[in-house]
Amino acid sequence: MKRVIAIDGPAGSGKGTLARKLASHFGFMYLDTGKLYRAVAYLNKSINETLNLAAREIFDVITNIPDSDLRTAEIGQRASEIAKNTEIRSKMTKIQRDFAELQNGHGFVLDGRDIGTVVFPDAMCKLFITADLKIRAERRLQDLRKNGEKITYDEVLNQLANRDYQDTHREIAPLRCDETYTLIDTTSKTEEESFQECVTEISKKML
Ligand code: CDP
Repeated sequence: MKRVIAIDGPAGSGKGTLARKLASHFGFMYLDTGKLYRAVAYLNKSINETLNLAAREIFDVITNIPDSDLRTAEIGQRASEIAKNTEIRSKMTKIQRDFAELQNGHGFVLDGRDIGTVVFPDAMCKLFITADLKIRAERRLQDLRKNGEKITYDEVLNQLANRDYQDTHREIAPLRCDETYTLIDTTSKTEEESFQECVTEISKKML
């Protein structure tokens, strides 16, 4: 079993913030795998060109392009479209496994949609973070507005509903929670309450 904590869930569930805090709490490395898909969407190349990209070119985008340019609603939509492609998913899975391998046995937190189902099915701990769609839309609206985007609540709600549908219904690696996950619903919890619940679950698995 790998020293990997797999965190999956839909957009706006709070999984990114939790994953980052958990990695720092346990002294693990962290990879936001959604950012890899967003980087590919940002590069906006053809499928063939994307398949020929070196991992370094994708990590260069993550390192050099400001978060505010990668975390726009438009890039999120495009990433979700790209993420349906089987060959691109295989490439991304390989990049994530190679990255983990390079950590030399160091603990590792990854968040995304298929970490516990496809990328690291033998992860030490799998958390599925979710929340009601309306709450997620409210949270995402705040994030996007902070980012300077002019967008309405209804637009965000529709985009998230659309992305949820695409991510859960695609043929390859759909977002799904099975019995190997611990489900954490953040709808009516503070960030700190959700964080403590995750810490408790992970600590049980580390015994
Ligand atoms: O932050 P947010 O949850 O909005 O999205 P993200 O994690 O940045 O991911 C953007 C899109 O990439 C998602 O809607 C998925 O379609 C795709 N993705 C994926 O398919 N598999 C992953 N491991 C991560 C992201």
